[in-house]
Amino acid sequence: MSRTVVVTGGTAGIGRRVARKFAESGDTVVITGRSTERVQQAAEELGVRGIVCDAGVPAAVERFAELAGPVVDVLVNMAGGNTDLTATEPGATSLEKLTERWQANLTANLLSAVLTTTALRGRLRAGGSVINIGSIGAEYAASSYGAAKAALEAWSAGLSAQLAPTGITVNTVAPGYIEDTEFFQGTMTEQRRAQLIGSTHNNRAGTPDDVAGVIEFLASPHARHITGQTIHVNGGAYTTR
Ligand SMILES: NC(=O)c1ccc[n+]([C@@H]2O[C@H](COP(=O)([O-])OP(=O)(O)OC[C@H]3O[C@@H](n4cnc5c(N)ncnc54)[C@H](OP(=O)(O)O)[C@@H]3O)[C@@H](O)[C@H]2O)c1
Repeated sequence: MSRTVVVTGGTAGIGRRVARKFAESGDTVVITGRSTERVQQAAEELGVRGIVCDAGVPAAVERFAELAGPVVDVLVNMAGGNTDLTATEPGATSLEKLTERWQANLTANLLSAVLTTTALRGRLRAGGSVINIGSIGAEYAASSYGAAKAALEAWSAGLSAQLAPTGITVNTVAPGYIEDTEFFQGTMTEQRRAQLIGSTHNNRAGTPDDVAGVIEFLASPHARHITGQTIHVNGGAYTTR
């Protein structure tokens, strides 16, 4: 049976790979992104439906939910990224600036998933899945990005307790360093890259495909008893034991 799969942030990187994977399996896929041009181009290339929506803006998410269709089987809250990497001022010079910076990351990575899930909650079908995208940064980073992803994991586990009785699983997938994405916005150095790869057990960067495969599994009939979890995809750079 063809499912309806929503992937927020499907224009690039991991989300784009996830959208392609579900579309190739015959699912009906809806992607989002903030720019009309990027959404249209990605939707056309992937053969999916594209809807422009900034996941951090309540009115945009409400409008998106109306357009998304009556039923959603799989919701992948992929939209996010470290807003500090594109901040105009590298260091926060005042508490006011610091507040802005923290709010930006909390909106991009936590509120985005909360708003989208809340707006679509009534349309999620039994047997379905909500998959939130965390980060290894939640384990180590003393930053608003890491804190936002840690909060996302905590919220996700709590949401599982609410939705699992209705047959919907809720999990977080937490990637480590993933190449071939726009995440680092040109800020990655050779030294940092080597350091991140060196911290893995298998001595390589992750790929969007590594993450997409786990998401596909969590949304499949094989994963119906996995809920309320954080699944780490990082080559051993962080272990849960
Ligand atoms: N790459 C890594 O190493 C890594 C590691 C850990 C976690 N992650 C997480 O993985 C997720 C995907 O990141 P990526 O690596 O694939 O980065 P990416 O290549 O920059 O893709 C990010 C996607 O999210 C969209 N997006 C960002 N903010 C949005 C918003 N407010 N509303 C709607 N769409 C939004 C972008 O679309 P537009 O720009 O077109 O709006 C784009 O499609 C993020 O949550 C990120 O935090 C990435």
